[in-house]
Amino acid sequence: MSLIAFASPKGGVGKTTVAAHVAALLARRGHKVIALDLDPQNALRLHLGVSLREERCFLSRLGTRPAWREALVETESGVRILPYGPADPLRALELSQLLTNEPQHLAEAVREMLAMPDVIVVLDTPPGPNAALAALMPRLDLMVILLLADAGSAAIIPQVASNRVLGRGTLGARAADRAVLVLNQVDEHEPLSDAVFDMARNAMGSRMIGAICRDPALAEALADKRMLLDGEPGAGEDLELLADAIAKGLKLGRPGSGPSGGQGGGFSALSEWGSQ
Ligand SMILES: Nc1ncnc2c1ncn2[C@@H]1O[C@H](COP(=O)(O)OP(=O)(O)O)[C@@H](O)[C@H]1O
Ligand SMILES: [Mg+2]
Repeated sequence: MSLIAFASPKGGVGKTTVAAHVAALLARRGHKVIALDLDPQNALRLHLGVSLREERCFLSRLGTRPAWREALVETESGVRILPYGPADPLRALELSQLLTNEPQHLAEAVREMLAMPDVIVVLDTPPGPNAALAALMPRLDLMVILLLADAGSAAIIPQVASNRVLGRGTLGARAADRAVLVLNQVDEHEPLSDAVFDMARNAMGSRMIGAICRDPALAEALADKRMLLDGEPGAGEDLELLADAIAKGLKLGRPGSGPSGGQGGGFSALSEWGSQ
């Protein structure tokens, strides 16, 4: 079992898009994937084709209805999702406070999910520091930090490379050996994008595990309630390579393909990322 978070100091960088695609690509390989939306934007369900009429949800009812099993929604992709659910700004703030004061509500639910054999839990998170991600940080096997290939993200790359974005102290240090970078919306025809790509590569080394090109097909697919899961040239191929890199880095193996399957959950040897 493995716990993977898609996170970023910034919003609008592709966390939800990439989390949904990686979850679906891992489900295609036969893994049991639960996608858990921790972002009050409640957008992950849209990518996974959940009906707007669907009322099952998880985090927005935390503290009142903690039964996560009843909130699981099956999707066509094979991923089972726990939608965030509806939350007005006040409720979202209350929840953030609840998660800060009593992180065990969420941590315990995720512990139960991870106790199921061969499960991969994929987290979509709100931008910046947030109580939900902090509650689960000690359990993370992998934190995929997303940034864009633009000037705003370039300013943050040094903080990601030095792990300052993960916080200080023992908690931050523990997360550091499992945090990797993915650069999104890379455009090879744009000099600035190229320069940010090179900067990220130099700063992160083998901890930069993927790059996804800017591809209008991703936004169009969302509008058409589709996903790019067939390795289509462009972002589809990049997402498939990313899912491969994550599976390899976590040693997920193919379900039912022998003793390596289900033995993941380790992210100790970051150097292994460099060999892909
Ligand atoms: N590689 C890409 N190429 C083109 N558009 C993208 C790409 N990745 C994400 N987008 C678009 O960027 C917007 C923000 O993506 P989203 O996944 O919602 O970001 P976040 O969850 O970080 O806020 C969406 O409209 C999405 O379709
Ligand atoms: Mg999002």
